Amino acid sequence: MSEANSGQSKSSSQRELKTQQNRFWLQSNVNDILEPMMLACCQESPQDKIAFMIAYLEEKYGERAMQGDKKNLEFMRNEAARLENLVEQQKEKTAGTTDDEKQEEQNSEDETDPDDDDDYVDILPEQIAKANKKGPRQSVSAEAFGNFNKKEEFKARVVPKSDAAKDAIMEKIGNSFMFSGLDEAEKLIVVDAMEEKKTFKNEVVIKEGDEGDCLFVVSSGTLSCTKVFKGNTEPTFLKRYEPSEAFGELALLYNAPRAATITSDDECVLYALDRATFNHIVKDAANNKREKYQQFLKTIPLLETMDDYERSQVSEAFKDIKFNQGECIIKEGDEGKELYFLLQ
Ligand code: CMP
Repeated sequence: MSEANSGQSKSSSQRELKTQQNRFWLQSNVNDILEPMMLACCQESPQDKIAFMIAYLEEKYGERAMQGDKKNLEFMRNEAARLENLVEQQKEKTAGTTDDEKQEEQNSEDETDPDDDDDYVDILPEQIAKANKKGPRQSVSAEAFGNFNKKEEFKARVVPKSDAAKDAIMEKIGNSFMFSGLDEAEKLIVVDAMEEKKTFKNEVVIKEGDEGDCLFVVSSGTLSCTKVFKGNTEPTFLKRYEPSEAFGELALLYNAPRAATITSDDECVLYALDRATFNHIVKDAANNKREKYQQFLKTIPLLETMDDYERSQVSEAFKDIKFNQGECIIKEGDEGKELYFLLQ
């Protein structure tokens, strides 16, 4: 056997050994959690599989279930209900238009390339689009909700700042998952457009229900996110924002009022990014990232029962990590905070 061949078979038997070890580890550590959950899921066939699995895990391993996950689920449910309402309103509006207006609308739609998203914003997760039974894709004219997201000619905003300030912003957005889909040139545009904002203790930076025109990245300090849920009069604490985290994206993504209130816990330094730069630079990259991971998630058998909307929620949390040969990824005994999928 040649040296090259013996090297190849050695590395393939090492791979086999590793696969066997992984399988064994999964069988002895994870299967006893996953199997009964999958079985319960099959028996119940719940419509909202993620909610079912979270509830299942909470019931079984209640102490360990994180409060934040519950809140996020509640938030996503509220968001879905809110978007459905917007669609209903839009439908009613359309139903109220005269035949002439309808014809005019039709004409202007015909002039538009159906794939040209310039004047339209896809705000509907596929699940909601399906629920409204209006075909596979729902686009809602930005006009319906004001002119916020209408793409005009984009001229990048430049807020003058020192090189040191630019470096500091670059470092913060480099650690933020919201900007992880951007290339270096796009990050530089974002850095130029950002404006520093200092807040004082207890300052309300974003107020639930207000109109929103920018997104914030935390440079220093922490802020609390609270929301008054339907039927409640008191706000519920949702999460604390730490340096490098971004907030205030929902109002920009969905042309909707602010969905929660964000208050400075102490004096903070934030970077504000305007709506136009967000729409032109960040939003598409974030969507591209979501699409890329959604495709990938479709190939994972464990997750194949998820629909596109659920996959898009999971995709948001993904980040690419490159490891060097021989680098340790998970160390036995360490606390496990992340789940890894092998992309390539
Ligand atoms: P936006 O709606 O623009 O302003 C309030 C922000 O709070 C929102 O964007 C999100 O960035 C952030 N947020 C974090 N968690 C939640 C939540 N569960 N519900 C609503 N907003 C949240």
